[in-house]
Amino acid sequence: MQAKSVNILGIETSCDETAAAVVGDGKIIKSSVIASQAKLHEKYGGVVPEIASRAHVEKIYPVISEAIQQANTSEDDIDAIAVANQPGLTVALVIGVTAAKTLAFMWSKPLIAINHLHAHLQSAVLGEKDLQLPAAALIVSGGHTSLYDYRSPLEPELLGSTIDDAAGEAFDKVANILRLSYPGGPSIEKAAEKGDPKAIQFPRSMLGPDSLDFSFSGIKTAVLYYCRGQDMKGQDKVGSMSEQEIADIAASFQTAVVDVLIKKTERAVERIGAKTVLFGGGVAANNELRSRLQTMCETAVPPKKLLVAPKRYCTDNAVMVASLGYYKYKAKLFADLSLEPKATG
Ligand code: KG4
Ligand code: ZN
Repeated sequence: MQAKSVNILGIETSCDETAAAVVGDGKIIKSSVIASQAKLHEKYGGVVPEIASRAHVEKIYPVISEAIQQANTSEDDIDAIAVANQPGLTVALVIGVTAAKTLAFMWSKPLIAINHLHAHLQSAVLGEKDLQLPAAALIVSGGHTSLYDYRSPLEPELLGSTIDDAAGEAFDKVANILRLSYPGGPSIEKAAEKGDPKAIQFPRSMLGPDSLDFSFSGIKTAVLYYCRGQDMKGQDKVGSMSEQEIADIAASFQTAVVDVLIKKTERAVERIGAKTVLFGGGVAANNELRSRLQTMCETAVPPKKLLVAPKRYCTDNAVMVASLGYYKYKAKLFADLSLEPKATG
């Protein structure tokens, strides 16, 4: 008889997606349910924590029930409950953490605490049978931009991260400046398709020749100055710009951000002697970034294998949480019911 898979229920509420999933043995995706709040935050041009928190409260129970139903399973077949408890918006994380603790208590199942960023790394290695280590891992999302030395799912070592804005945040803010729709990443990408990436020379902040940290606030300000004048006293020119001018700004901005991300990843690959590059997070849905990273890996000496998260698992989801939960389950790394959400991590 075939051994029953270890089924982990994953729960994710770190930002503006309420998500639950059931994953077997870390790789068999039995269900994935995501309730996105993008529409609720659209008119504010960014995530409003109080609105996010309230929407999580409304959605958490239906989303978890649907994930269990879709997986054609019941609480008896769930071996543990994994929940993202850091980093993120505390008022959002607390909803998932409270739900997970309640279920763990009611069902007498182990509780597993998951770092949301480590979970994003997991979506890049999902289903990979021949993972060559060490890997340099780049996570680029709305809240974080981080590089890791990845030697095991349990302990990725942070090599560098942003000292100010995250890359996704810069996409969202620049889209706001250009009056493009929220979330900004996909709308900048779409506008950039018709633009000239060399039209405007925006700054590329490298923070010195050896740094693996990132800074994206300078480029965001450069776009703002470009649109409103250096002293910010000029008229906001965006309203009177042609579609082509907007496209040129979007393309020039996107290329500048991609240049920095590629260069830093290249440095990380050299620093740790990586054989593989892992790439995930919401911004990993960006096609220019995906293809430039592919070229970087193919032309490296020796070439590196690039593992990119499938697009549906780039943005926040609970499959990545449940998948990483499996490895923590096997290592018996359990949390207790005093688990708290944490903004940083
Ligand atoms: O990982 P994620 O869903 O949430 C966080 O953990 O932050 O990432 C959301 C971010 C947003 O900033 C969004 O604008 C960006 O990912 N994003 C993109 C694209 N799709 C989503 N950025 C650039 N290009 C895209 N195609
Ligand atoms: Zn995320």
